[in-house]
Amino acid sequence: MRRNRDADWNAWPVAEYLAENYRRMHPCDRGVIHHHCAFYRQFAPGSLARTLELGAGPNLYPLTLAAGAGRRIEALEPSAANLAFLRRQLTDGPEDSWQPFYGLARALDPALPATLTEALARVNVVRGDAGDLVDGRYDTASMNFVAESVTEDFDEFTALCAAFVRSVRPGGGLVAAFMERMPSYRIGEGPLWPACPVDEPALRSVFGPRTADLRISRLAKDRTLPEYGDTGVLLLTGRRPRP
Ligand SMILES: C[S@@+](CC[C@H](N)C(=O)[O-])C[C@H]1O[C@@H](n2cnc3c(N)ncnc32)[C@H](O)[C@@H]1O
Repeated sequence: MRRNRDADWNAWPVAEYLAENYRRMHPCDRGVIHHHCAFYRQFAPGSLARTLELGAGPNLYPLTLAAGAGRRIEALEPSAANLAFLRRQLTDGPEDSWQPFYGLARALDPALPATLTEALARVNVVRGDAGDLVDGRYDTASMNFVAESVTEDFDEFTALCAAFVRSVRPGGGLVAAFMERMPSYRIGEGPLWPACPVDEPALRSVFGPRTADLRISRLAKDRTLPEYGDTGVLLLTGRRPRP
């Protein structure tokens, strides 16, 4: 069984990953944006002092979705390759391919800043992984295709999700997306990356005891993406319980 530390995350294939997943908007991205924007619309504009994007990777669009409600967005990411890409997007300006994602998000959440560049001005890129999370630091936390896509070990998946929940203050909101039943996967012809197939009952077993107001929904398998062996996408919202 391959665990998180067994993969070379610094060598994440940024260009191939973006080409396969994010150079154009796929139906599942639309579903994620609709779901996450509904989550952020429950908060008054600017009411969240600090929000988290755990394992941000090179994906800019989830980062921007918090920019209406959130004043400071922390993108926590361990991979040198992904950190370099994110920092370039912030300093040199975002590549044009992100504009349609932001356009859809802004149509769904008028509290978002007028431009993608303004939204990204709220983002701070931080090197680190789930093991570096501080208990209760954030008002909300977001995680997209991370816990199930970085280990084959269900116990490690569970520990990563538990750290994600604990990263928000009691009462803080959680929003996440997971590949459904995805086994270990390749990007292009590259190495095999470790993954842990999860379904809705597995998510309920992990998040049910740790969250309040847990809601899980599903997006159909997106056949416009490469064949990763998944059966769709699972979307989750919840809250860290108050004591
Ligand atoms: C499949 S990618 C998802 C990237 C991005 N969130 C997205 O929506 O496309 C998994 C990401 O998790 C990061 N990662 C790997 N191990 C991690 C850990 N222990 N804690 C946090 N992130 C991790 C990887 O570097 C990579 O960016």
